[in-house]
Amino acid sequence: MKLFIYHTPELTPVDKVPECAIAVDVLRATTTMATVLAAGGEAVQVFSNLDQLMQVSESWPAEKRLRAGERGGAKVPGFDMGNSPLECTPDLVKGRRLFISTTNGTRTLQRVQDAKAVLAAAFINRGAAVKYLLSLQPETVWIVGSGWEGSFSLEDTACAGAIAHSLLQLADLSADEVAGNDEVINAIALYSQWQDNLLGLFHNASHGKRLLGLECHEDLKYCSQTDTLDVLPMQQEPGVLKRYY
Ligand code: MLT
Repeated sequence: MKLFIYHTPELTPVDKVPECAIAVDVLRATTTMATVLAAGGEAVQVFSNLDQLMQVSESWPAEKRLRAGERGGAKVPGFDMGNSPLECTPDLVKGRRLFISTTNGTRTLQRVQDAKAVLAAAFINRGAAVKYLLSLQPETVWIVGSGWEGSFSLEDTACAGAIAHSLLQLADLSADEVAGNDEVINAIALYSQWQDNLLGLFHNASHGKRLLGLECHEDLKYCSQTDTLDVLPMQQEPGVLKRYY
C-alpha cells in the first residue's frame, strides 16, 4: 500500500486516479456526512453547484430530502440547513437523502469521484476509515484535504496525518514503507503535535477562526472528537455516498 496526502484537491495529479481516495473536510462537510449517515440518513448526494442541487433534488419528495447549502461557513438562503453536523439529528435526517453543497468539501469529492473506492473521513470517523484500509489493503491511497478555496488548511492535513498515523501503528508499518510523498511525513508530524488538543488546533486554523466568528463554537467541539462514529461514507454512484458500515 502506498499512501499519498494532498493538502487540497487542486494539488492532486490530473493524469491518474488512485484505487482508493479519502476526502477530508473536518470543518465541517465530511464530519457532517458521517453524522448524517450515523443518524440514519438514506444517503448523501454532493454538488459543487447550488442550482444543480436544487434542480436534481426537486425530483425527490420533500419528506424524503434535506437540502444543505453552505458558502463561506454560512447557510445559503433558501436551503433547509447550512453545514452544521449538530443540526443532523435522527429525528430530522432518518430515512432522508441529504443533498449538500459546501464551499470546498463537495468539490473535493467531485475531484476524486473516478477512483475505484471513494470514502469521506474526518476525525470523528477516523477509525472507520483506517479499518477499511487495513481490511481492503488498496494499492494506492490518496487522502485529499479540502483546504479553503485552494489554500492549505491545518485541520484537514492534521486529519490526513491522523489516518496515516493510526494506519502505521495498527499495521506495524514504518512511514518509509508507506509514504508515497513527503506530505505524509509532514501530516503525521502535524497530527502528532496536536493530537491531544485538536480543539486548540481548530482555534489556530483560519477556517476555525471563521467559524468562531459565526458563533459555531459547539461545531468545533463536535468536529474535534476522534473515533466516536464507526461509520464510513462510501460513494455508491458518482456523487452519492451511503453507509459502507
Ligand atoms: C467547506 O466545504 O469548506 C466546509 O464544509 C465549510 C463549512 O462547513 O464551514
